[in-house]
Amino acid sequence: MFRDMHPTPNISHITREDYNDVYEPSEDSFLLMDVLENDVQAITKIRPMICLEVGSGTGVVSCFLATLLQQPCMFWMTDINTKASQVSMNTMRQNKVYMTDAITSDLTTGLMDRLQGKVDLLLCNPPYVPTPLQEVGSNGIAASWAGGNNGREVIDRLLPAVNKLLSPQGLFYLLCVKENKPDEIMATLQTDNISGCVAMQRRAHNEFLMVLRFNHS
Ligand SMILES: C[S@@+](CC[C@H](N)C(=O)[O-])C[C@H]1O[C@@H](n2cnc3c(N)ncnc32)[C@H](O)[C@@H]1O
Repeated sequence: MFRDMHPTPNISHITREDYNDVYEPSEDSFLLMDVLENDVQAITKIRPMICLEVGSGTGVVSCFLATLLQQPCMFWMTDINTKASQVSMNTMRQNKVYMTDAITSDLTTGLMDRLQGKVDLLLCNPPYVPTPLQEVGSNGIAASWAGGNNGREVIDRLLPAVNKLLSPQGLFYLLCVKENKPDEIMATLQTDNISGCVAMQRRAHNEFLMVLRFNHS
C-alpha cells in the first residue's frame, strides 16, 4: 500500500547566491527526511516537545519534520555558519513554522545547560567527507562537507553530547557514510548505553549513505 509522501518544504526564497555559502539540500538531506517520514508513527508516539538539529544548513530537514508532525514541538537549530542560521530561520518562517530558533554555534555550545536531558529528537547531517585535517574548522561552505580523518572530526566531537542531551525517550538520527565507520560510531555510543541501528541506507553517486538511529538502551 502506498502512502502520500509528505511534501518537502518550500525553499523558493533561497537564491543561487545563497547556495554559494549554504549547503544545498542533496541526497543526504533527502535520505534523512525519508527516514523521518518512515518513522513518523514511532516519533509521534514519543510525543516530542523539543527537537534539536545540529548543522541545519538551509533548515530544510527540521522544517520537514516540523510540518510532518502534527503536534506542537520546539525546533532548535544550530550551525557554525551564520548565513546558514539566517537561511534556516527564513525557511521556517516561509513554511509557517514559528516555534523555532536558529543559533550560530559550534555543535551545541550555548544550549547544553538549557537542553540537557530534554531533547526528544536530535538530528545531524554532519560534514562527513574524509578530507585533509586542515580543511576542517571553517565557518563557510567548506564546513558543510569537510570531515577530516575518516570524515569523523565533527561527528566524534558531537558523540559525547548525545547521552547528555537525549531525554529518556529521545531518538538521535545521524547521517553518515561507509567511510565514517558506522560500526565504530555505534560502539562508541553503546558505551553510554545508547543503542544504534541502520535505519536506512542508499547509494548516491559515489557515496554509500546511511542514517543511524539511536535511543537509550
Ligand atoms: C552536510 S551539511 C547539512 C545541512 C542540512 N542539515 C541538510 O541536511 O541539508 C552540514 C552542515 O553542518 C554545519 N556544520 C559543520 N560543522 C559544524 C559545527 N561544528 N557546528 C555546527 N554546525 C556545523 C555546516 O555549516 C552545514 O550547514
